[in-house]
Amino acid sequence: MRFVDTSALVDDRPHQGVFRVHRDVFADAALFELEMENVFGRTWAFLGTESQVAKPNDFITAWIGRTPILVARDGAGKLAAFLNICPHKGTQLAHAEQGNAKYHVCAYHGWGFDPAGKNVDIKDRAAACYPPAFEAQNHDLVPIARVTAYGGLIFGSLSPEVPTLDDYLGELKPFIDMAMQQGPHGMEVVRGRVCYTYRGNWKLQMENAMDQYHLTSVHASYMSVMDKRRQGEGHTDAHQFDWNKRVLQQSGMFNFSHGHSVTWINQAEVEKRPIYPVMDEIRSRVGAVKADWMLKAKIALIFPNFQIADGTTLNLRTFRPISVGLTEMRLHCIAPIGEDPALRRWRLRQFEDFFGASGFASPDDAACFEAAQRGYAARPYDWLQGYSRGITSLRDGADEHAAQLGIRPVASLAGDFDLNCETTLHSPYREWARLMSGRSSGENELQS
Ligand code: FES
Ligand SMILES: [Fe+2]
Repeated sequence: MRFVDTSALVDDRPHQGVFRVHRDVFADAALFELEMENVFGRTWAFLGTESQVAKPNDFITAWIGRTPILVARDGAGKLAAFLNICPHKGTQLAHAEQGNAKYHVCAYHGWGFDPAGKNVDIKDRAAACYPPAFEAQNHDLVPIARVTAYGGLIFGSLSPEVPTLDDYLGELKPFIDMAMQQGPHGMEVVRGRVCYTYRGNWKLQMENAMDQYHLTSVHASYMSVMDKRRQGEGHTDAHQFDWNKRVLQQSGMFNFSHGHSVTWINQAEVEKRPIYPVMDEIRSRVGAVKADWMLKAKIALIFPNFQIADGTTLNLRTFRPISVGLTEMRLHCIAPIGEDPALRRWRLRQFEDFFGASGFASPDDAACFEAAQRGYAARPYDWLQGYSRGITSLRDGADEHAAQLGIRPVASLAGDFDLNCETTLHSPYREWARLMSGRSSGENELQS
């Protein structure tokens, strides 16, 4: 494995007020190749939800970096994950994003596999004159090194040398709980999904969701739509939040070990949350503190390429690196199992209004990602600025908000919305630098 000296790529000197990232981190094709090995090859990746593979023979397809993955529950109910490639010629085997299949049959020459990964058929085998050495070979699907679920979310790793998933998620776990415990019977992926590509690096989305700073500029057009709606014009049934109220709220962030971070905003209009009418049930089940935090707008980054976004509508976002300048976004709206149909409609109107290729927000974000990627070609230009925004308010360990939740982040920050810190990006870039330079995940992270 090849590693790089990251000191010229991530300039991490917070006690001198410096945190900078070099534009090559987004634009250098050789670094991208190394990321596939060192980051995506050596960490955990989100693969899907347990609700998508609840029944025998259910399956989902996913990616770890550029590696196609098949997650399947076999006839006996056991969950496993494999490289989603046929051992014959390495062809991608399953193509559907999810489904139910007793057999996965390769489209190329028809070899068949069961959901436990066992090769059950090699077409025209009897007539093939295969030598004994071929017959002695293992023709089964290749299992990946690790697959484990936490809170209904399935994660996998190509490397056996990752920390346990429990350690990896660490102090971030309550934020998974606050998403996945909103329903008394668990959460499900709402049918359908939003999927689109943008011509930019995968870390542009990693940054964007953790950056509240862009809201009032990139989404200014959306805020003016909201002004019109307040006057009774346009699609007033979208149950959308009034961001002019949101920007007056207190907000904050936490950095965690292993590259994760969370940004939060006190919720201005709790009554617009689809869970608001059922808060009594939620409060009695999860307690007052977690229930109140469920009503805040929050986004959790689970390094490297997964976000649980609960700022507008609760959704799971994966941003899949395809090449240094091309990324696929996939958004799944999740909702309580058995949710009242009226609340489900409310939730879906909020989701489609804001997200996706035809929503009011995602296209504006994507346009900025593409403009940034074009800008990275400029010479001479090196260090990107702004990652130090908020640094003088950052404190080591837990603040009172973390203490309220009973978590121990690496660092915390809280303040007015206008503070709009970029310190949420320190944790992911530190983990990126660790993995790219050959150190192990979370190494030497100070934990209060
Ligand atoms: S590549 Fe799959 S059967 Fe030939
Ligand atoms: Fe945005």
